[in-house]
Amino acid sequence: MTNDKGILTLGIETSCDETSVSVVRNGNYVLSNVVASQIPIHRVFGGVVPEVASRNHIDVIDDVTRQAIIQAGITLGDIDLIGVTYGAGLVGALLVGVSYAKSLAQALNVPLMAVNHIEGHLCANYITHHTLAPPFISLMTSGGHTAISLVEHKNTYTTLCSTVDDAVGEAFDKVARLLGLPYPGGPEIDKLAQQGQPKIVFPSVLLRNGNFSYSGLKTAVANYINKCNMTNTPINREDLCASFTKSAIDGLIDRAVSCANKFSIRSIVLSGGVSANTYIRQRASQLTEQGYNIYMPQLCYCTDNGAMIASCAYYMYIYGQQPADLSLNACPTLKLRGEYVKKHQ
Ligand code: KG4
Ligand code: ZN
Repeated sequence: MTNDKGILTLGIETSCDETSVSVVRNGNYVLSNVVASQIPIHRVFGGVVPEVASRNHIDVIDDVTRQAIIQAGITLGDIDLIGVTYGAGLVGALLVGVSYAKSLAQALNVPLMAVNHIEGHLCANYITHHTLAPPFISLMTSGGHTAISLVEHKNTYTTLCSTVDDAVGEAFDKVARLLGLPYPGGPEIDKLAQQGQPKIVFPSVLLRNGNFSYSGLKTAVANYINKCNMTNTPINREDLCASFTKSAIDGLIDRAVSCANKFSIRSIVLSGGVSANTYIRQRASQLTEQGYNIYMPQLCYCTDNGAMIASCAYYMYIYGQQPADLSLNACPTLKLRGEYVKKHQ
């Protein structure tokens, strides 16, 4: 399969509200990364409408793929490998990408790798940091997933702790909704938080057993807003956003550090949409002063994109994982491989 162009992987991502297709050389060199975002379409509904998302993926996927091929300066015939997100995500949205990828792989007669979206987020770091290699501690923070894992080898994960209810990105979006901010709320809260001070004390998201819970924090913010409204007290939205952000992030960073210490690992790797947050990036960066190596994707690879899926597919392929066949189906509740290891807590 190798040639002087290296291995060219086409990555296809349609798990939620972004249709994205990318061409990546040898797992970490991005030749093109086209993202058609549906955010303006869903914003009027205050969140993603699954049926609308599926229909929009169908409308644009072929054009997005053509653009990715043209921008990469190649032809479809140059593609060596295809990777597609098959979970976790919205079932209808996933099925669009999976069906398209299966047809294309069959037509081009190239292997197809079924990529776990969460694993894809982590692989965004291999694009940004070419020398990054396990072992490291992964802090994954997205709209649907929040977990800390031990990564001992590429493609081998042991989940150490995770959220027991909402994901951190989901909490950002719900709090933004309480404040009447547009969808997706995370970037809106981020902007306001930078102009405020964390003056309000909200509860920690850390549970005693080492997991996280975001429902208590979300309720505390809702109660604070209700109390202000009932007593006609003006809400300082900037301070509220800074305070919420601090509570939502501090527990994650502190826990990632204690996991790193427990396993005598100095490298911590951030990924997922919330790793675009200004405060989490600042807090993580400060850890370098204590001797930790901190890795995070470039901002454009934090949220959903085809490049991270192509990168993941490449490493799965070269590490000998079996390609998918035509029976590949969408798996909306897919988890990261690796078991929950209680003894490590
Ligand atoms: O990883 P992602 O693109 O999709 C999932 O796999 O879920 O993450 C989307 C989430 C949303 O909840 C969004 O509000 C959040 O990431 N997000 C942010 C920021 N940018 C995106 N949250 C906080 N600060 C940001 N700058
Ligand atoms: Zn994602």
